[in-house]
Amino acid sequence: MSLRIHSFEEYTQVYKKSVDQPEAFWAEIADNFLWQKKWDQVLDWDFRKADTKWFSNAKLNITENCIDRHLEKLGHQSAIIWEPNDPEQHHRKITYKELHAKVSQVGTMLKNNGVKKGDRVCIYMPMVPELAIAVLACARIGAIHSVVFGGFSAQSIADRIQDAQCEVVITADGGFRGTKDVPLKNVIDEALVQCPFVRRVIVLTRSRTPVSMIKGRDCWWEDEIKKVEIMGNPECVAEPMDSEDELFILYTSGSTGKPKGVVHTCGGYMVYTGYTFANVFQYEPGEVFFCTADIGWITGHSYLVYGALLQGATTLMFEGVPNWPDAGRFWDIVDKYKVNILYTAPTAIRSLMGFGDEPLEGKDLSSLTKLGSVGEPINEEAWNWYNEKIGKRKCPIVDTWWQTETGGIMISPLAGLTPTKPGYATLPLPGIQPCLVDENGNEIEGNGVSGNLCIKFPWPGIIRTTYGDHERCRTTYFSTYDNKYFTGDGCLRDEDGYYRITGRVDDVINVSGHRIGTAEVENAINMHADVIESAVVGYPHNIKGQGIYAYVILGSSLHDHDLTRRDILQTVTRIIGAIAKPDKIQFVSGLPKTRSGKIMRRILRKVAEGETENLGDTSTLLDPAVVDEIKAGAL
Ligand code: PRX
Repeated sequence: MSLRIHSFEEYTQVYKKSVDQPEAFWAEIADNFLWQKKWDQVLDWDFRKADTKWFSNAKLNITENCIDRHLEKLGHQSAIIWEPNDPEQHHRKITYKELHAKVSQVGTMLKNNGVKKGDRVCIYMPMVPELAIAVLACARIGAIHSVVFGGFSAQSIADRIQDAQCEVVITADGGFRGTKDVPLKNVIDEALVQCPFVRRVIVLTRSRTPVSMIKGRDCWWEDEIKKVEIMGNPECVAEPMDSEDELFILYTSGSTGKPKGVVHTCGGYMVYTGYTFANVFQYEPGEVFFCTADIGWITGHSYLVYGALLQGATTLMFEGVPNWPDAGRFWDIVDKYKVNILYTAPTAIRSLMGFGDEPLEGKDLSSLTKLGSVGEPINEEAWNWYNEKIGKRKCPIVDTWWQTETGGIMISPLAGLTPTKPGYATLPLPGIQPCLVDENGNEIEGNGVSGNLCIKFPWPGIIRTTYGDHERCRTTYFSTYDNKYFTGDGCLRDEDGYYRITGRVDDVINVSGHRIGTAEVENAINMHADVIESAVVGYPHNIKGQGIYAYVILGSSLHDHDLTRRDILQTVTRIIGAIAKPDKIQFVSGLPKTRSGKIMRRILRKVAEGETENLGDTSTLLDPAVVDEIKAGAL
């Protein structure tokens, strides 16, 4: 069976087969990839133990699938196009042949630095091609990459390096984002004070910000590459990986204070990202795919890098930000490289929409054929603007619902095949069996219903474990509802059986498409010397989707409130990163708690949303008077 679905009727048939005979279905899809040895068993699973294995005992290397197998036909096609932050600087185009050579070189460089199969490598880099190359080089030699988004603080990096016990870090002196010069190496140095076991830091030259290079530990990327050249650039053979060997760790927030290291493995992740890329975007040979996500997030991993390269696509990587030098930057890029598929987040769409039509003037967007949205619910207004102003009503929009834990897109239209509705992720992809459940765990059948979204059968991209703590994986995802994977999202299924994601039902806030745990933000706020206690909730935000609202109880602070507010923001930036800074901080003298001491977040959420009347039952509160004070001081 070929990978691509070509019509909506075909989708319906394929979907049916994928549910009736999942193993036969996925085996046929997997046959489209290059395996060093085929599997003994397609699927082996037990959700009650959070155990899933795909393509047992098969051997492969994902980079052979992403690069080597394309060399004959696509060797001279661009694999990566890179647009720098500064539009005046030179862009770069890297062909599949060049990518092969570079990944091989960096793979050898890592080996020269003692990196072996199974070792964890932390990557903290700007959006330059070397980031994608470093990721692929790890995969080439069987090292497990743990990419940390460049916006995270030293403390967050240290936590992640410790959790994964990474002994090697790849970073850059600095990176450019808009007008900012981000001092990446300095941040790493600060993080490594807490990680004495890190024995090697490889530093790419990008910004030439002054950095301190520690003897014996730090080395320059360029010097290490020279050493590989002196060796005569030996071919770095693709390490044979077991299908269930770990490919990468990516940390994500949940409802507890500590981010989890979501683990994906080689075989299933490859099949799932390759399959979904081909079908959701209906990728045609030669098309230029522009995914605006940073590689530090799952979207960047699965579609900017792996999914796109698995299908021999040309993937466009952008170092900068959408509004610099002006709000027309995305459209300049589309025009300059004749981008065919644009995949971005509703938050970017809403923010660019706010600049009106002017940034679009004179920009030729006629190359666009398909548009995608990811990361958060897209409101109708943004959907319509995207459709009219960017797609000129001729580009299908795929609203793709998925998660770090799902590895790839789960519920989404197939571009141009599935009839769409604004705000709807529409229908499950083949192999995905969603269901809605009520609070008691009963499945809600039929259409025109809503509930908590679960998936009742495994798919190849499913999370395998949370690094170093399998029990945490089991309790977080597989214990809320018996024998089901719980997504943490609320969802409705309309009369046509179409799915619409309504947002998180747990204590996770989705800020600009990034997941932030309320407990994490509270922990960070509580680090501030004057803070006694805090409670954080999300509230609707015009651009970000959700904003962060913090209720804070101060001790006997001598400082004025505005200063303290700024100090708290600085504290959160230090502990987590600027992305977790509260948008609003309200100082209160108490929090609404039940007699057992539990904070009633429902009330705090309502007040943050601007609702002061219908707060629901407050009779179980220890001190109902605090609610009046909170309402009176609402921001
Ligand atoms: O709440 C859902 C929301 O983003 C969450 C997953 O976040 P993360 O793991 O960071 O991955 C984001 C990129 C895949 C989900 O639980 N979400 C993601 N896509 C959509 C969405 N909400 C609504 N519509 C979407 N298309």
